[in-house]
Amino acid sequence: MKNKFEHLMLKEIFEQTEVMENTIEDKINGNNEINFKNGGFTSEEVKNFNRIYIAACGTAFHAGLSGKIALERFTGIPVKVNVASEFRYEQPVIDGKTLAIFISQSGETADTLSSLALAKSKGATILVITNVENSTMAKQADKVIYTMAGPELSIASTKAYTNQVLMLYLLALDMGNKNDYIDNKSYLKILEEIKLISAKITEILDDSELIKPMAKLTTSRPSVYFLGRYLDYVTAKEASLKLKETSYIHAESFPAGEFKHGPIALIEDGTPVVLIATQDELVPNMITSLKDVKANGAKTITVIKGTNEEISNISDYVISLPYTMDLLTPLISIIPLQLLAYYTALELGNDVDKPRNLTKAVVIE
Ligand code: AGP
Repeated sequence: MKNKFEHLMLKEIFEQTEVMENTIEDKINGNNEINFKNGGFTSEEVKNFNRIYIAACGTAFHAGLSGKIALERFTGIPVKVNVASEFRYEQPVIDGKTLAIFISQSGETADTLSSLALAKSKGATILVITNVENSTMAKQADKVIYTMAGPELSIASTKAYTNQVLMLYLLALDMGNKNDYIDNKSYLKILEEIKLISAKITEILDDSELIKPMAKLTTSRPSVYFLGRYLDYVTAKEASLKLKETSYIHAESFPAGEFKHGPIALIEDGTPVVLIATQDELVPNMITSLKDVKANGAKTITVIKGTNEEISNISDYVISLPYTMDLLTPLISIIPLQLLAYYTALELGNDVDKPRNLTKAVVIE
């Protein structure tokens, strides 16, 4: 099963190129139309939605956070994202004009299933994005989009995550096209850029060994902090979860701007901080955050697009990503950080594919 790879997690991280390629080939036709087969909506259906809820757990929830940004930007429909275990407590405002999206690799997660049941009982249209055909969630949905990531066996989700994000972006583009919210030029430009993503993932994976030495830093202290703004904050959340799961190191993520309002007190000499700075307009703000944590003694890894001399001069390590439009960076920025979680677990001698206390699908609430 692992082929030439030492662990399933590493194999699944490397499969992300192929998974993206297959998805793009399957979902985008020669006329640049997105086709979800039974999972898509007609123009009339899209125009009828006035509100979208997304509920999911863990990594799938993080995919939902990026999905919200794309859905609101391309469709103009307000979107609320919840962790599924909290969904019902907030008494969501659901009626026949609500689209409720549930994201789940396994399609069996109990908290997501009970949220689905609630949304269904209130008359929402149910869309499930899952990786497992005929899973319980798939059977209960009005529409299903399959993520096509192939079996994901390592407990820490990697390829399912990036594919969930991709599906949500394609869904947002398709819906935005159908309710005439996105203009055709932007639609085509984003699709063209999406088609280039798999090659960019290959570039990152070709340099995977560069991440290995950074595990010396993440294992050097009991806590690691991840900072980002906007879409990079979503990546920070997912990277932090990945590191916790595989390494058992205390990892936390913060919106970089909020960090100075208290959490920065946690920084002492040598504290590892990972900063994600891929959003062009937010790079100056991230440089301020970088300077702040460095001034307090942090050791830093900064993820950027292309090169940035100032960041390279300040940061202890820099991870350089190939250039893509800001909106699409979540599809690539998580990859070196998945590798960081992997190499950190390896450095500690942990069972990478079967971390303690975790199961692949959490089937109790
Ligand atoms: C991911 O690395 C985790 N193992 C976990 O957070 C997972 O994403 C969550 O339990 C949801 O699972 P699902 O996608 O199968 O619903």
